[in-house]
Amino acid sequence: MTTTDDRTPTGEWAPGYDDIFAQRAKNALQRRVSLGVDTWGDVLKLNWGMPDPDFLPAEETAAAITAVLREEMPSPLEYEWPQGDPTLRAVMAKRLADQNSLPIEPTQITFNGGSSLSLENVCRAVLEPGDVVITEDPSYPGTLHHYRLSDAEIHGVPVDEEGIQTWKLAELMEQLATAGKRIKVIHTIPDFQNPTGYTTSLRRRREVLALAAQYRTLVAEDVAYRELYFETPPPPSFYTLAGGEGVVQLGTFAKTWATGIRVGWVLASPQLADGISAAHTEAGITAVLTRALRRLIEDGSLDRRVQQQREMLWRQRDAACAAIERYAGETMRFTKPDGGYFLWLRLPEGTSAEQCVIEAGKEQVMLLPGAPFFVQRAGQPFLRIAFSYMQPDRLDEAIRRVAGAVHRVLAAKT
Ligand SMILES: Cc1ncc(COP(=O)(O)O)c(C=O)c1O
Repeated sequence: MTTTDDRTPTGEWAPGYDDIFAQRAKNALQRRVSLGVDTWGDVLKLNWGMPDPDFLPAEETAAAITAVLREEMPSPLEYEWPQGDPTLRAVMAKRLADQNSLPIEPTQITFNGGSSLSLENVCRAVLEPGDVVITEDPSYPGTLHHYRLSDAEIHGVPVDEEGIQTWKLAELMEQLATAGKRIKVIHTIPDFQNPTGYTTSLRRRREVLALAAQYRTLVAEDVAYRELYFETPPPPSFYTLAGGEGVVQLGTFAKTWATGIRVGWVLASPQLADGISAAHTEAGITAVLTRALRRLIEDGSLDRRVQQQREMLWRQRDAACAAIERYAGETMRFTKPDGGYFLWLRLPEGTSAEQCVIEAGKEQVMLLPGAPFFVQRAGQPFLRIAFSYMQPDRLDEAIRRVAGAVHRVLAAKT
């Protein structure tokens, strides 16, 4: 029986949790960026790397889930195999073998809750505190976040239109090795990179792999946007060029199907995959969804959606580029991406990107400043926009307002 005494606290908990949080959480709290605008409200969203919500594949997803529950019980509502539904692994092995032009066994693939948790899985499997990770600079903040939380020492190497600058990478690796550091991972987003939209050239891919082999460094290749090219596919993957060894390839259905699906995978050679799946912590990922995805691949829905997305993104990219030329050709410089979701805008030197974002927010437009994408964050005169989320008319209006905001910030500076 419960008495009043049972519910009476036994002691006073002093306010504040500073003594509880690990240093990595304290650092993460400090790095948090406030966008200053309500993300969910009625604003024009150039900030979100998501497909247009009016074209999400709700009907196909619902039909596949219903079919799974009607035809495959009881396994969809039971614990899944830790590395994911074996039948999806088999279907994906074939799909990834075709894409990478190499034979792939289902056991080489581990599924996780999105590409994000796949990276966490890789970090757990390979990183010791103090190991060095080299990323492109700028890179996707989610990637940087995972490596920071792994207590890795992160170094960034600049990128240009051909990808990571390999002569700088070579210099850095030599310095680090001379200082006795263990360089464990080079992380790359080689195809239509987030945030720059750049694609790593074949030559640079080969140069990175040569350096990785020299220092016995793993290459983590994030191929989130690889299938979403407009005209020409990107060069062969790092995985292909390396013959499958020394590379982990991180993939996701987020950008090709829908971000809410939260299913991603790691592909690696058999020995690497073994260690990665051993360091996997979940009791299997969502069986209903992985089985539904298997059906969507088998009946051609995923391929159709990828094709539809390529065509739509191409139109969206053209509209965004035309709007920038029209409203701010002189002040916002960019390189047209050949695929993916993003445009990376360079502002005149010394312009505060943060101020531009705040000004645009006043006009109900959201976009991101460059700083969170860099390993060292401060003072970067860049803006990132995602053209994936809105159709051409709204993109045009949003960019018109951003251009106005940038011009106001520039006028106030002079
Ligand atoms: C390069 C890259 N990798 C991974 C992700 C996230 O993938 P997921 O939603 O599967 O975790 C993103 C999302 O923006 C991304 O840009």
